[in-house]
Amino acid sequence: METFKVGNELILDIMDINSDGMGVGKCEGFTFFIDGGTIGDKVKIRITEMKKRFGIGKAIEIIEKSRYRIESKCKFFPKCDGCQLHNLDYKKQLEFKRDMVKNNLERIGKITDVEIDDTLGMDYPYRYRNKAEFKVGKGSNIGYFKRETHDLIPIDKCIIQNEIVDGILHIIRDYMKGYKVQAYDSRTKKGIIKNILIRTTKDSKVMVVIVTKGDNLPHKEELVKLLIGMKEAIVVSIYQNINEKDTSLTLGSRDIKLYGEDKIIDYIGEYKFLISPKSFFQVNSVQTEVLYNKVLEYLDLKGDETLVDLYCGIGTIALYISKYAKKIYGVEVVKEAIEDAKENLKLNNVDNIEFIQGKSEDILPKLNEKGIKIDAIIVDPPRKGLDKTLIDSIIKANPQKIVYVSCNPSTLARDLACIKEEGYGIEKVQPVDMFGMTVHVECVILMTYCGLEK
Ligand SMILES: C[S@@+](CC[C@H](N)C(=O)[O-])C[C@H]1O[C@@H](n2cnc3c(N)ncnc32)[C@H](O)[C@@H]1O
Repeated sequence: METFKVGNELILDIMDINSDGMGVGKCEGFTFFIDGGTIGDKVKIRITEMKKRFGIGKAIEIIEKSRYRIESKCKFFPKCDGCQLHNLDYKKQLEFKRDMVKNNLERIGKITDVEIDDTLGMDYPYRYRNKAEFKVGKGSNIGYFKRETHDLIPIDKCIIQNEIVDGILHIIRDYMKGYKVQAYDSRTKKGIIKNILIRTTKDSKVMVVIVTKGDNLPHKEELVKLLIGMKEAIVVSIYQNINEKDTSLTLGSRDIKLYGEDKIIDYIGEYKFLISPKSFFQVNSVQTEVLYNKVLEYLDLKGDETLVDLYCGIGTIALYISKYAKKIYGVEVVKEAIEDAKENLKLNNVDNIEFIQGKSEDILPKLNEKGIKIDAIIVDPPRKGLDKTLIDSIIKANPQKIVYVSCNPSTLARDLACIKEEGYGIEKVQPVDMFGMTVHVECVILMTYCGLEK
């Protein structure tokens, strides 16, 4: 321990990567989190910080290159905060994600007796995202934050986004320069444009949202003309969104439509979905089908079941499985999303789903009170996972099956442990890669009721 002082140099093997994208290595049994390097590298690090139970260091030399190391295709890696794994072979990324789920289940949930399937990966792990959110900064710069800072890295090409996005960035940058439209600066409280949100669909339709501090957006007609004049894409919808608050949230509460359609339409399987600027839609449309097919497989529906789809967003899972069930209740807190879900019902001629706006933890008890017999419950919560009171209501509903779709293995592990205690066995765990080149992983879990041990 004598050698572990800030400024000292050590040689370590990187064994893992944590959820913040830092390498993890050990020296004399003591854990270090390392900035730089990838799984399998032997690195020389300089200690930058010492805590009681771990140290933090920066890789200053790669002593031995990992056999999993690849050349990054992204010129902004590793400075950019967006991706963490561009230098790791994709097959190894899939293994790493499976291990991450396993480690979380074991460490947090104390779940050790369950088989975890290999991660279902993408055919091509680039250009997969359908939604891009950029920050706008000084000098008409549009980009992402530099890792662990609020310094902007100007981006002209993001290889996990649809190629159309690169062209749109170019146009907005030229418009800002040409018409001297300033980026908003939260320190001086001056300037206009804060963020840019771009949604793309499978058939190359585009929605662009320009987020401004106030109502003023000079020369907006010219911006609209430039965007709809693009040859590479069909820009069908342009919004100005006003975000008066200086928070990390991209969108504010007010939208002004500048051009075209209110919503864009994308497809999952045979279903069409109307999407508003604020609605949640899975960011990887191709892998969403893989994910939902797993949900369907785990539910193994016979056609006479009543289901509840909690955290249903714009109704995508409920609609995707609708023809295999008798009745589905979809529950979602965001008003715009539930409005989209109701429209999506009509758009797809489906009549066996009832969408209810509200918090899952408030609505499920009401369905329980009505005495509705629920055969299966699907939950797909945000990263924070399930509320404890919701778990209590799920147990009260006593479905035969629970299918948990999760984007955060640590809250998933916590929740599964809790549900398991109430008599549900974990039958299947399937990681799905929706976010190639990043440390994020999606997971589908099947739990079935097997009763409490007496
Ligand atoms: C991970 S998304 C899943 C959406 C949908 N299942 C899908 O696959 O597109 C989580 C959704 O839960 C919603 N949400 C967040 N907290 C909620 C709550 N307490 N009750 C109901 N919905 C909630 C969010 O608005 C978001 O649409």
